[in-house]
Amino acid sequence: MWCRGILGTRAISNKTLVFTSLQRLTSNSTNVIENLSATAKQLNVVPSRQPVQRSIASNACGSTIGDIIDQWSRRFEAEGIPEPVESIEHIVAHIVGTRKTLDVFNMRNDKFNASQIEELESLCECRLSRMPVQYIIGEWDFRDITVKLVPPVFIPRPETEILVDFVLKRLNSSPLENCEILEIGCGSGAISLALAHACKKIKCTAIDASPHACDLTMTNRSQLNLMDQIAVIHATLKPDATVEVTSMSNGAGKMDLNSKQFDFVVSNPPYVPTKKILDLEPEIKIYEDLRALDGGDDGLKVIKPLLRYSAKALKPGGRLLVEVDSTHPEYIKFFTNKYSDLKLHYEHTYKDFCNNDRFVEVLKVN
Ligand SMILES: C[S@@+](CC[C@H](N)C(=O)[O-])C[C@H]1O[C@@H](n2cnc3c(N)ncnc32)[C@H](O)[C@@H]1O
Repeated sequence: MWCRGILGTRAISNKTLVFTSLQRLTSNSTNVIENLSATAKQLNVVPSRQPVQRSIASNACGSTIGDIIDQWSRRFEAEGIPEPVESIEHIVAHIVGTRKTLDVFNMRNDKFNASQIEELESLCECRLSRMPVQYIIGEWDFRDITVKLVPPVFIPRPETEILVDFVLKRLNSSPLENCEILEIGCGSGAISLALAHACKKIKCTAIDASPHACDLTMTNRSQLNLMDQIAVIHATLKPDATVEVTSMSNGAGKMDLNSKQFDFVVSNPPYVPTKKILDLEPEIKIYEDLRALDGGDDGLKVIKPLLRYSAKALKPGGRLLVEVDSTHPEYIKFFTNKYSDLKLHYEHTYKDFCNNDRFVEVLKVN
């Protein structure tokens, strides 16, 4: 999940954290702020006593964008902020209203106006507080779509694009005319939305235990105009391998998730073993919902019911594609052999960008 840096998601140890950035989060986030503050307290993190270095701010009026990028990247580096150059480039790109950092490169000789400098300062302060850039700018690219991101909903990782590629590859080599996909744990909706965006014959049902995640998936669904291809359901996969529905959005009709069958089940579930959670970077621990990450003692807390549930929820010939910890493929092989009555056949493990075993494919046999 975090084998290479995507702005604040690579291994780091510095723990300089402040709460000011929490107040800068987007509207309707009061509960989110309370949750984050509680998490920060639990983790025993301390507010930074250092104000933003005024010399950068006060000099910025006369400086070019290029100067500002150089000054802030040095400041970020000195403060131990991961990926300092990328961080400031993305913040500057956001302020000038582009998604491309290359555009920023071409604007190095331009200057910001006073309100842009004020915005820059405030966003850089958030980065100094270890807020991930994706939350600061409020959106991120995933495959060929851009999704809105609001803390604490999980930030989609680049590795997960590989999972989408495998589903599409399987689908393209199948004779299916229409394809029904269930995603368990949709977060921002990145996987389901990227699938539906790539292929018109796909219909996705996206479920998540978090109401914030469901709301964000619905927002992204509207933004991408994929209302007719995605149904969002606030529902939880329980340890007994049943799904408990809290509420359905429009588009889900009266779907019974404990009897309906799908061509694919896809999931990037929480799979980090609990003891590894404290080793994660501040960006993750403070700002992301730990329930999206924490897979229990062995990391298999959701994966075990997911396997049992998929045995019921997949049509014969259907496939489960799941992102896992590199220690999990062996267990999944063992599980499918041991519980042969479930008629699940372990097919393959695929690697991520860092050559770690990361994605497992399981076939539902007749
Ligand atoms: C690692 S995040 C993945 C989010 C998104 N699919 C992605 O790849 O960006 C896992 C998601 O699963 C949700 N989740 C955790 N346990 C769940 C459960 N038992 N049932 C349904 N959703 C669950 C979390 O709320 C979180 O949004």
